Amino acid sequence: MLVNVLDSKKSILNKFISEIRNINIQKDSLRFRRNIERIGEILAYEISQSLYYEKNTVPTPLGTKIMETHKKDIVLCSILRAGLPLHTGLLNYFDDAENAFISAYRKHLNETDFEIKVEYFASPSLEGKTLILADPMLATGQSLVSVFEGLKKHGTPKEIHVACVIGSNEGIEYIQKNLPKETKLWIATVDEKLNNRGYIVPGLGDAGDLAFGGKL
Ligand code: URA
Repeated sequence: MLVNVLDSKKSILNKFISEIRNINIQKDSLRFRRNIERIGEILAYEISQSLYYEKNTVPTPLGTKIMETHKKDIVLCSILRAGLPLHTGLLNYFDDAENAFISAYRKHLNETDFEIKVEYFASPSLEGKTLILADPMLATGQSLVSVFEGLKKHGTPKEIHVACVIGSNEGIEYIQKNLPKETKLWIATVDEKLNNRGYIVPGLGDAGDLAFGGKL
């Protein structure tokens, strides 16, 4: 798997990541969502450099110009609900993409163990398409792999990209073992560890709650 960690090079991205982590700034949920969206836009730009490009003729008021633009075969797939702002950011750039939404949640069996429940699927065909799987927090990697397994019934994509905001080394290793080896991972930043409840440390807390409020 090709792993691209975007903050290995300093850029404006660092400000957006700092703000979503900062306990004082992240309380502003509008700003939190918009920062995740902005990170999604940067991820989209980076991913765009690895896509297939096709020549087409663009008419201008004064003539024509041959331009190369990416093949319009993208399906953006996000995991509800935390994935929604990241999805919006990716879709702001890949505005001609088709879209898939899946629900996945952790069903806690006790204080430390959980299983992933994947329940709702709304997806177009993935056959021969470029699949971009978006998940803001790559913690254990189990939800991402469960969602990918569930998506197999919708066809075989020609390439797979995974777009994440914060990951753990454990999560990266897990998806390296369990997703096709040609998968490309695009991740804004990577933290050292997970706590015993599978949260990324130092991370940012619960991305879904910060974006949309607490739940029962
Ligand atoms: N999901 C989150 O929102 N945060 C984590 O740290 C891990 C999973």
